[in-house]
Amino acid sequence: MKTYLVTGGAGFIGSNFIHYLFKKYGDDIRVINVDKLTYAGNLENLKDIEDKSNYQFVKADICDSETIQTLFENNDINRVVHFAAESHVDRSIKNPDVFVKTNVLGTLTMLNAAKAAWEKEDGTYPEDHKFLHVSTDEVYGSLEEEGGYFYETTPYDPHSPYSASKASSDFLVKAYMDTYRFPANITNCSNNYGPYQFPEKLIPLMINNALNGKNLPVYGDGKNVRDWLYVEDHCKGIDMVMEKGRLFETYNIGGHNEKQNIEIIHIILDQLRNKLEDSDPRKAAVSEDLITYVTDRKGHDRRYAIAPDKIKAEVGWYPETMFEEGIRKTIDWYFEHEDWMKRVTSGDYQKYYEEMYNR
Ligand code: NAD
Ligand code: TYD
Repeated sequence: MKTYLVTGGAGFIGSNFIHYLFKKYGDDIRVINVDKLTYAGNLENLKDIEDKSNYQFVKADICDSETIQTLFENNDINRVVHFAAESHVDRSIKNPDVFVKTNVLGTLTMLNAAKAAWEKEDGTYPEDHKFLHVSTDEVYGSLEEEGGYFYETTPYDPHSPYSASKASSDFLVKAYMDTYRFPANITNCSNNYGPYQFPEKLIPLMINNALNGKNLPVYGDGKNVRDWLYVEDHCKGIDMVMEKGRLFETYNIGGHNEKQNIEIIHIILDQLRNKLEDSDPRKAAVSEDLITYVTDRKGHDRRYAIAPDKIKAEVGWYPETMFEEGIRKTIDWYFEHEDWMKRVTSGDYQKYYEEMYNR
């Protein structure tokens, strides 16, 4: 049986990934989810699977080496999918220290624990054991507006404290692969969107603000480009790299869905207007008048765009959800989960955690 240790499984992509695993493998796997439950971690995202006998949640910091080591000692873990990180660029500009702690030292702790548990006396590793480090395209820096893509061979050139900390963590994983032949892969993915994303990131923030008649803050000229991927396609890519990726390789994941931020905002406004009933008082407020240009983010990367040629050729991955469908599904999800949005923005979800622990 495959036993997964998923770090950061209560966050946006991690919780989608755990859902993806259970949908695909059902009871043929075990999943241990280790999460510190920072502001970005929300156990409510996993409510529907929390009682499964093959699922276990452990509240822990990935920097806590003793707890992580004990988890490896007590469980026959053969797959690690490492999501846990501080993930928001704006927060990294305000407070870089926690990014270095979690993203760099936390990754080192995870690598050391997996290496100690898996390495045989002769320095080799058992078959079918792998550590997959989930990273970002932001490590490659910024592209010109016209032309060019990020390939796996593109030199690293991070600009924000977030991307610098992710780049450092990638280099640590690479060092473990090169030095110890530690069985790992790195994936570098473009911007994700979809259900359960914390509303500090562009898409859920704009949906939430528009529905509440609040300004839509656009950084700079609004023409920065991101390459958007529906979160389920990212989860599929991670699973495929885990199962079919060549050891020690890096794979870029992205679906050629480049959009300017301002385009995204117009699409969201259009779709919200279409969805809201004429009788809904919010409908009149959902308008372009909410768009507010604000001071640009410091060091704001202009354009990200992934060339996914390698993952397509080697593991047969391709994106299934194009942007038009993905954004519709995402907006539908936020419509159907207004309570979720209210709770994560009000802090009520902290109470949910407390109740969970008391159980
Ligand atoms: P997120 O912020 O939604 O979730 C992060 C999770 O990690 C949260 O549940 C949080 O509680 C947990 N966590 C934070 N610090 C921890 C610690 N010290 N110990 C244990 N758990 C901790 O992030 P996300 O958007 O789901 O991103 C997940 C991973 O994917 C990150 O590594 C990120 O760099 C990478 N990534 C994200 C995107 C994106 O568009 N969101 C794109 C590419 C790669
Ligand atoms: P974000 O979702 O923070 O992702 P990242 O910075 O990791 O790509 O931001 C996506 C883009 O949207 C980025 O160019 C910054 C911009 N942005 C705004 O214009 N306004 C906002 O309020 C936010 C959160 C982001």
